[in-house]
Amino acid sequence: HKVLFVASEMYPFSKTGGLGDVMGALPKELKRQGVNVALIAPYYGRLNHGDHQLRLIYSKCRVGYPWAPITADIYTATCDDVPVYFVQRGEYFDRRFYYNTHDGDYFDNCERFIFFCRATMAWASRLDGAPAIVHAHDWQASLVPAYLHFLRPAAPFWRNTKTVMTIHNLAFQGRFASRLFFDSGLPKEAWGIHGAEFWGDFNLLKAGIAYSDIITTVSPTYALEILYPQFGCGLEGILSQRSSQLRGILNGADYTVWDPINDRHLPSTYSPDDLSGKDICKRNLVAELGLDRRFLKRPILGFIGRIRDQKGIDLLIDIMGRIMEKDAAVVVLGEGSLDYEAVLLEMMENYPGQLAVRIGYTEDLAHRIQAGSDIFLMPSRYEPCGLTQMYALRFGTPPVATAVGGLRDTIVPWPDPQATGFTFSDTDPELFYRAVLDALEMWNQPEAWRAMVVRAMRADYSWEKAAKNYINLYRELGADI
Ligand code: ADP
Ligand code: GLC
Repeated sequence: HKVLFVASEMYPFSKTGGLGDVMGALPKELKRQGVNVALIAPYYGRLNHGDHQLRLIYSKCRVGYPWAPITADIYTATCDDVPVYFVQRGEYFDRRFYYNTHDGDYFDNCERFIFFCRATMAWASRLDGAPAIVHAHDWQASLVPAYLHFLRPAAPFWRNTKTVMTIHNLAFQGRFASRLFFDSGLPKEAWGIHGAEFWGDFNLLKAGIAYSDIITTVSPTYALEILYPQFGCGLEGILSQRSSQLRGILNGADYTVWDPINDRHLPSTYSPDDLSGKDICKRNLVAELGLDRRFLKRPILGFIGRIRDQKGIDLLIDIMGRIMEKDAAVVVLGEGSLDYEAVLLEMMENYPGQLAVRIGYTEDLAHRIQAGSDIFLMPSRYEPCGLTQMYALRFGTPPVATAVGGLRDTIVPWPDPQATGFTFSDTDPELFYRAVLDALEMWNQPEAWRAMVVRAMRADYSWEKAAKNYINLYRELGADI
């Protein structure tokens, strides 16, 4: 393989959020554009196999810890023409969740992902030839570029391999006690302010940032934001030092999965030329979620996402009462913080038939909310890229979002004549509420609203362009692909 992706999740096998979607889409598009790409991910016990057959291709691959003869079993499957490798070791990956339970992160996450990265190195060294590019995603994979950096000078096999580290969310760094550094097997010289050390702790993402040939993040705006303390999560220093090797490449949306024209999760499909199906989706959503029938003629505001501070769920909670007074309905699908979940469920009791809260992770309901809502809410505090607003655009559900990160790069805000949605400048419930009011006011003008819906649906954020940008980047690194 010319390009090897390393990541902790991949749709449809595994997904907790946008990373899974991206891993399910970008390699597929690279492949379509002629790049010989493969991906390696953990073999979770709760893998969604679907129609895919997983074959064991290497049993007891020695992972090469300095102190213990631990091995991994490597499985493979082909997904949309892309070979996918899975690293299996039951004691690490055969669990109910991927990274954490409601009580917090698994206590051995550092060990689990050191293992994943070492197994990736061990397996990749057995391939016929070294990949020209190893492309690691997020902290779970970020030791791979660090290992390669130290291995390359002495290992002829790896001599021509270049590394790319993509940051999907800087808030998740994989920060652990310093003693775990020794378990990683990185050389002593990697310990320090210019390497894997972060305020005395072992920081996996920092190691990846320090030792990759190129660092990318998932939107141009986020690539600038993270150079400053407000969004840099403490890593603004090292990112600034490496800023000439830092790029922002906007994600795409996978329109083979997220497009109302052929979405198999919807009661009716629709397109910008014929929106009648969207009404059917709305009617269906009202019935499915038990909303009052008057909302067939009133706006429905949808929220889908992890119930976390990042997503600004507290801002929505703050203005919920005022939205209710406007006789609009709100639909929330998500899971995350138990506290916020409880507040939302309690609120639902106060607004029967007007506020529908569904706690849980339900892929098909997410599609039906995208289609059946009129307006999509995304008051994120920060957003590296954000995919749900791109899906909302394609589903003709103009977003109301904070003007940060990828939200800024994908939504043309009202009152621009080409507007596809509404943005507000800062994490502030008043500003959010005002933006919601702007959206409601425009919804009341059917012609103007319809024009915006159609513009939103025609906006094109397909992966084709993003994949081209990655190919150019690989070539810039001198990779022959
Ligand atoms: P993030 O990766 O920060 O969570 P993104 O917008 O990039 O945000 O991607 C989120 C993805 O996860 C989307 O595909 C969205 O539909 C999905 N998603 C989030 N929460 C849920 C949920 N509770 N049920 C179903 N899908 C969800
Ligand atoms: C992260 C970010 C999100 C981004 C996704 C895929 O989860 O929070 O903004 O869209 O990764 O890159």
